Amino acid sequence: MQLSRLLLQPSSPLRVLSSKCPLPLLQKCSRFSSSSESQIPNSHFVERLEDNPDKPTSTISIDRSGLYNPPEHSHEQNLEPELVKHLKGIIKFRGGPISVAEYMEEVLTNPKAGFYINRDVFGAEGDFITSPEVSQMFGEMVGVWAMCLWEQMGQPNRVNLVELGPGRGTLMADLLRGASKFKNFTESLHIHLVECSPTLQKLQHHNLKCMDGDNINENVEKRTTSMLVGTPVSWHAALEQVPSGAPTIIIAHEFYDALPVHQFQRATRGWCEKLVDVAEDSLFRFVLSPQPTPATLFLMKRCKWAAAEELEKLEQIEVCPKAMELTRTIAKRVGSDGGGALIIDYGLNGVVSDSLQAIRKHKFVDIFDNPGSADLSAYVDFPSIKHSAEEASENVSVHGPITQSQFLGSLGINFRVESLLQNCTEEQAESLRTGYWRLVGEGEAPFWEGPDEQAPIGMGTRYLAVAIVNKKQGVPVSFQ
Ligand SMILES: C[S@@+](CC[C@H](N)C(=O)[O-])C[C@H]1O[C@@H](n2cnc3c(N)ncnc32)[C@H](O)[C@@H]1O
Repeated sequence: MQLSRLLLQPSSPLRVLSSKCPLPLLQKCSRFSSSSESQIPNSHFVERLEDNPDKPTSTISIDRSGLYNPPEHSHEQNLEPELVKHLKGIIKFRGGPISVAEYMEEVLTNPKAGFYINRDVFGAEGDFITSPEVSQMFGEMVGVWAMCLWEQMGQPNRVNLVELGPGRGTLMADLLRGASKFKNFTESLHIHLVECSPTLQKLQHHNLKCMDGDNINENVEKRTTSMLVGTPVSWHAALEQVPSGAPTIIIAHEFYDALPVHQFQRATRGWCEKLVDVAEDSLFRFVLSPQPTPATLFLMKRCKWAAAEELEKLEQIEVCPKAMELTRTIAKRVGSDGGGALIIDYGLNGVVSDSLQAIRKHKFVDIFDNPGSADLSAYVDFPSIKHSAEEASENVSVHGPITQSQFLGSLGINFRVESLLQNCTEEQAESLRTGYWRLVGEGEAPFWEGPDEQAPIGMGTRYLAVAIVNKKQGVPVSFQ
């Protein structure tokens, strides 16, 4: 297959972007902090729980003194949103504060009222925008990467193509449309979408133009096919549920940043975990654990992978055990079944300090403000992905991180935009150019000729890409 041929052909119809993402929103709606390179400081006051210096610190427990005891049937409580009541209930019945990770997980994925569960949160009408929603070229380029990996794998005739957290399904739809002329590739695919939200699952079903087969046998799941290229599609709650035994290509775009993080703060008695409690005034507040918590094991592990000089200057550290565990699962799967994984997200090539942020309707808000109505996300710790993968399987190699701009550039996005520009309306051309610069630009997009306040801010250097591949596959394209 010739990469240049693929990139230059007008394979798929041009998506009209302006209807999805009006320009005024472009400047403020993706999930990295647009104001500076620095990590977002958390303005919350952290109250220290009483600490008994005589107690040994080797046991794991939480000081339950001075806990808020909410009135059982107060009027105020009845007006509270379900999720707030639920979170307070956990804190009350647990008899102590909960970790930031537990708070984050409930806020995002609580099966009744989690942020992702009941609505479409993407785009101009939603809360934030992601690269696949910015331009069809993003999914197409990821498709080129996946096809090249498939070639490196020896063009197997059966491949599990897995996407973790597919959102609206836009990336996968653009990938399939872009690859539709490469029948040997598309005919090998079995698509597996790992998605916790029933609402988003329905949207993915719609956007991938899925048709459900007849249920011939009650014991056998009915087959769903994407009519875009005729590939079977199935949904799962976790990667572990995707059938193993076939070579696998895994895509995780803006999935890791939604995984729950634990936060630690340096105190005179050492590193203490930041926990979420309910204050006297019935509002959520941070407190510090008096003693080591179970997540301290992950902090210790993370610190072992860092240089002393890097840690010395940090007053806070975030760790994401779920990201480490997921990476181990990916590495073991790729190590045993062959294939590779592509992880693209905003984050750091170093220890993350204090990055947890909340976004509602394209604006940063307080983390505790009406939980479940705003997105929570945190910077991805790329070195921890690398170390977790290498530790989990000796059959895999980890490549990157490289910037999104390097990744898309090496796959030929500039040829693709030129090719699309040759056959479009002026409105589409405008939208294509804006989308292109938003994907590859650094800071404010260069050559912007519109009003200053509408200048798109590039995701090109703030988003990083890393690949975990089976060593048999060699070095994946764009990471050479
Ligand atoms: C930030 S969105 C990214 C969506 C998409 N990849 C994109 O770039 O537009 C995160 C996605 O992961 C899903 N998700 C978040 N946490 C999840 C979990 N624990 N298990 C499965 N899906 C999850 C969300 O429902 C959503 O589809």
